[in-house]
Amino acid sequence: MSVPLNLREYEQRARELLPQATYDYYAGGAGDELTVRENEQAWAGLRLRPRVLVDVSACETATTILGQPVTFPLLTAPCAFNQLAHPDGELAVACATAAAGVIQTLSTMASRSMEEVTAASTGTRWFQLYCHRDREITKALVERAEAAGFAALCLTVDVPATGNRERDFRNNFQVPAHIPLANLVQYLPFGQDEMALHYYASKQFDASLTWESLEWLRSITRLPIVVKGVLTAEDALLAVQHGVAGIVVSNHGGRQLDSVISTADALPEIATAVQGQAEVYVDGGIRRGTDILKALALGARAVLIGRPYLWALAVNGEAGVTHVLQHLHDDLKLSMALAGYPKLSDIGPQLIC
Ligand code: FNR
Ligand code: LAC
Repeated sequence: MSVPLNLREYEQRARELLPQATYDYYAGGAGDELTVRENEQAWAGLRLRPRVLVDVSACETATTILGQPVTFPLLTAPCAFNQLAHPDGELAVACATAAAGVIQTLSTMASRSMEEVTAASTGTRWFQLYCHRDREITKALVERAEAAGFAALCLTVDVPATGNRERDFRNNFQVPAHIPLANLVQYLPFGQDEMALHYYASKQFDASLTWESLEWLRSITRLPIVVKGVLTAEDALLAVQHGVAGIVVSNHGGRQLDSVISTADALPEIATAVQGQAEVYVDGGIRRGTDILKALALGARAVLIGRPYLWALAVNGEAGVTHVLQHLHDDLKLSMALAGYPKLSDIGPQLIC
């Protein structure tokens, strides 16, 4: 079978391969999935103002993220249970991201533990944290992330409860018993109920989290903190005031509150408000090199991709993820050349109509 040409073809192929309930868990979102659709449409709706007769014989995509060198401005987003896509799960993503020279963000809800991922990877990794009600569990996760050499903590702040994911309710979706919550098994008794994500989140995630909790987190770690799930300038400024190193403009891929603003629409006001006091990243609906170019033009330092690497993992394991990362890198380079912007540092709002 031919190799998929783009991220959409990976999704189509993955859809044929995965059980319906897994596909729906990955692809789906909250409510009417308005935000899921609008994330992609908002990037698609932006138009570029290219420059010509610029020397684009060498386009440079290398940059740094929180001081760490990367080959191009992309990270893999934290996604729960990568083993639902492929038995190698997060280990395959660790190897593919390390080889590609980009950063992997490992979910709290990963199916491989942070120690296993560290043993498999030579690359830079961030740990995504879900604050548990039991602060001792949260503290233990943070300490393990530090000990395992993760470079940053990515605190996800848009899940006080999981969104209304009707596909999962319809399918009575539960994670199969052989796929573990590998970072958490030692702290919690896992029965069948816990394998339904909404049940787990409602029992274990801390819905009372506030900006003071961020202060607490800062007091127990020396790692830089990135807050993921910010959609307004007001919250971005609060994040800066509370000392974060980075902000991920994200609506959780449309899986939480349906009808929230698309990330392409939220990004400009946040980048403007933050004024370089923290790094700003964006995720949601990034599917093309031109989407990355648009995100950089609107003030992001880097983008994250979620579903696309899950599709690639389902289709062809580590090799699939490697291919998707290479494809996006090549597509960004080509887009920079055709837009007349060979340097990342020159890309700015003037590139957007
Ligand atoms: C996610 N996302 C997510 N985010 C997070 O902080 N922790 C997590 O465990 C998960 N789990 C998760 C599972 C699945 C199946 C998906 C699709 C998403 C959200 C993710 O990090 C990211 O914000 C979105 O996926 C970005 O949108 P795209 O690239 O999928 O459109
Ligand atoms: C999700 C959770 C785990 O989006 O963040 O499925």
